[in-house]
Amino acid sequence: MAYRRLKFMKSFYITTAIDYANGKPHLGHAYEKVLTDVVARFRRLMGDEVYFLTGLDEHGQKVQQSAKALGIEPIELCDEAAVNFKALCASLNITNDDFIRTTEDRHKTVVCSILQKLFDQGDIYKAKYQGYYSKRAEQFLQEKDKDENGEWPAIFGEVEEITESNYFFKLSQHQDWLIDHINSNESFIFPRFRAKQVLGFLKDPINDLCISRPKERLEWGIPLPFDEDYVAYVWFDALLNYVSGAGYGTDDFEQRWPADFHVIGKDILVPPHSVYWPIMLKAAGIALPKSILAHGWWLKSGEKMSKSTGEVVDPLDLIEQFGSDAFRYFVTREMNVGQDSEFSLDQYMSRYNSDLANDLGNLLSRVLTMLGRGFDGVVPAPQIEEELEKEIWKDWDETRSKVVALYEGFQFHAGLERTFAFISSINRYAEQRAPWKLAKSDDPEDKKRLDTSLHLMAESLRLAVGLLDPVMPETTQKVYELLGYEPDANWQARLIRNDSLVGRKVGAKAILFPKPAAEAK
Ligand code: ME8
Ligand code: MG
Repeated sequence: MAYRRLKFMKSFYITTAIDYANGKPHLGHAYEKVLTDVVARFRRLMGDEVYFLTGLDEHGQKVQQSAKALGIEPIELCDEAAVNFKALCASLNITNDDFIRTTEDRHKTVVCSILQKLFDQGDIYKAKYQGYYSKRAEQFLQEKDKDENGEWPAIFGEVEEITESNYFFKLSQHQDWLIDHINSNESFIFPRFRAKQVLGFLKDPINDLCISRPKERLEWGIPLPFDEDYVAYVWFDALLNYVSGAGYGTDDFEQRWPADFHVIGKDILVPPHSVYWPIMLKAAGIALPKSILAHGWWLKSGEKMSKSTGEVVDPLDLIEQFGSDAFRYFVTREMNVGQDSEFSLDQYMSRYNSDLANDLGNLLSRVLTMLGRGFDGVVPAPQIEEELEKEIWKDWDETRSKVVALYEGFQFHAGLERTFAFISSINRYAEQRAPWKLAKSDDPEDKKRLDTSLHLMAESLRLAVGLLDPVMPETTQKVYELLGYEPDANWQARLIRNDSLVGRKVGAKAILFPKPAAEAK
């Protein structure tokens, strides 16, 4: 019975974009995985069954060219990239359930079956094309893509004029339907202001989409099942990872699809994810994803950080030096989901030192040291509750409900800000209560205050790190262990004040976020 119920419970299905295989992972990739992981962990903690997919986009001209330049086969380049990107996921503690590679048979089979279906239905036709083509963007260009001086913008690289026969997917006939879908589904695109950008794009008539590349120009792709002389356009291939990775054609698919969230960067919202993808699905008779979450960019000196500009930050260096939780904290705390954010090492160090090492780290070592000194490491029971304690508990109740609501609305930066404000107020409480002074007093009331204050500090720390769990899972776990706390399986129950720590033996003094020996340059 339990098995049957589980089988028909719809998972919360979340995806990242799949990264291009022709480069090393950078901060932008790492951020997207962390953001998606924070949502996935949060949903799991809220009781959802989660299915989380990430992967690698391996076909296309860029991979073919990079491999050629290196004198290796494209698949060798992809295999190496797969190792690097999987290692990135592992070092960031990403809880993806699967990692899809578009060169896998399970993906190619799905792409071919959907292409064939669309072809048989008459949604794909062959036509002669004459026009401009950008190798870098792997797309055909139109006059309207030129800048105000009538030049091709630099992002397109070298633009050439070509004439060739190709296959086209009928996009334009679905334009009105798409506009209507976006207008009538408030949550289809998040943040909402991005929907306006999509609707702006849809003001002008859209063209049908060229979905093939002749093999003589591009070999590294999935051959069209109805014409072996062509391979599929890389975006048409790549977008389908979201269904192939969910087991399209198997029972698993029913349990996962539709996707709850596609997490992507704003550069690939219009047109691939907001125009091509919904229309591809509609034509193929597959339900649409519930929501597309478009995040902003990490910038360096005001420019998008990318391998083409060369201004990249290697996330692995930062993780190696400061740990994975610190990285996860920094990117989640600094980025207001949907906006851009400038990366600087100074800011990284300042978050690390002030929030993590000082506010959180010092609170923990304070609690452990004081309990170790006068209490044999055993958490005492609270004895009295005065104004100072009442304030903290009131603050906690507000913090808990506010932060959970912020997380539900993807306002993770604000949720963390609020959680750390609570941690600061525990530190302030410690200064005001000054248990180190109470310990020297002969007054029996002061002895009660001492017990109460140490219990409060341990208990409120236990509660606060519960809120950090989706973002800093290792830290939460470590603090629980040091406090001698066995976490309740129900996360929301863990966030309720109780006496579970009373009588627990805490660990020896520990440093959560050590100051780095030599600061990175
Ligand atoms: O676009 N800041 O791959 P990709 C934040 N293969 N996010 C960034 C970023 C930055 N500086 N740079 C890149 C592709 N990203 C396609 C996707 S999906 C079916 C195919 C994000 O390796 C970018 O917005 O160029 C995208 O969501 C992801 O990293 C992969 O980028
Ligand atoms: Mg890109």
